[in-house]
Amino acid sequence: MTDRIRWGILATGGIATTITEDLLLLPDEAEVLAVGSRTLERAQDFATKHGIERAYGSYAELAADADIDVIYVATPHNDHLASTELCLRAGKAVLCEKPLTVTAAEAERLVTLAREQGTFLMEAYWTRTHPLVRKLAELVANGAIGEVRHVSAELAFCFDVDDDHRLLNPDLAGGAILDLGVYPVHIANLVLGEPQRVIGTGRLAGTGVDADATALLVHENATAVVHCSMEASGPSDLHVLGTTGRLHLPHFLKSEKLIMHRDGADPEEFVQHLPGHGYTLQAQEVMRCLRAGLTESPLVPLDTTLETMRTLDAWRAALNDGN
Ligand SMILES: NC(=O)c1ccc[n+]([C@@H]2O[C@H](COP(=O)([O-])OP(=O)(O)OC[C@H]3O[C@@H](n4cnc5c(N)ncnc54)[C@H](OP(=O)(O)O)[C@@H]3O)[C@@H](O)[C@H]2O)c1
Repeated sequence: MTDRIRWGILATGGIATTITEDLLLLPDEAEVLAVGSRTLERAQDFATKHGIERAYGSYAELAADADIDVIYVATPHNDHLASTELCLRAGKAVLCEKPLTVTAAEAERLVTLAREQGTFLMEAYWTRTHPLVRKLAELVANGAIGEVRHVSAELAFCFDVDDDHRLLNPDLAGGAILDLGVYPVHIANLVLGEPQRVIGTGRLAGTGVDADATALLVHENATAVVHCSMEASGPSDLHVLGTTGRLHLPHFLKSEKLIMHRDGADPEEFVQHLPGHGYTLQAQEVMRCLRAGLTESPLVPLDTTLETMRTLDAWRAALNDGN
């Protein structure tokens, strides 16, 4: 591995563009060496636009490039399993978009492969690298608000997209739970661990994928309510309620302020501005792990991803059973 970590970008869509732009903000640490697309033309367009040296007209050619250290998989959900497996089998470290796969069973398959090979794998749950989420986790662990009794987290946007868009398309594993619900579940599980029981409900879109969904996550001494929607607009807030205080992270994906209220004390605020589009910290965490020879990120360990995938499975199953 050279001084700079050499990245390959797998796919040329919306988030591939955003992440590439953030990687280009780290020229001393990272080099975006190559891009792979299902067509050579799209790969070349993307490479020209971002000043990337190598363009490949297939994901397999990208995975086979011996000079790449890590591949960022940015395809629709249904493809994460195949593309991540392709890259892992080629011996490449992988940062794969959220959710790692469509089901927990698929995620188990990738985790087993990565662990057997000793190859780095991380789900791109980038929010976990946000300094305010790290601060929140630290405050909870240190008992700053007593024992946590309840978490509420929602992520809701109004999307105006056609039925064949990946968000609504069942063939691409669309749906609010996989696309958005993964975030509230990850953060609720970060605070409370994996729930003992998941009580879910929701509403399906015309294409059959879930459009709006809510779940109650039941623990021995606490509960969480998680909500996601592709057809309502929300503040996307996180609240953590403890026995001696509470934490509030407004717009928790890209929050710039964490507020702590403690009984008998003035509210405390923690402020943090995010560089770029907010994804440089995730890239730096990947590169820190690779330089340290780690095969998992301690911030987003694979067991955490598996816990979240099991919760998502249960939520989706409950919703489908109820409709
Ligand atoms: N971390 C975040 O904040 C964030 C934000 C948005 C999305 N995401 C995640 O990133 C992933 C991609 O989302 P996106 O919004 O970037 O999607 P997108 O704009 O539709 O791009 C997806 C790309 O995947 C490739 N692809 C492979 N198979 C495909 C297929 N059957 N249909 C369509 N495209 C296919 C295409 O690239 P080629 O044609 O070049 O092969 C396409 O450009 C999803 O897993 C999503 O959950 C994460």
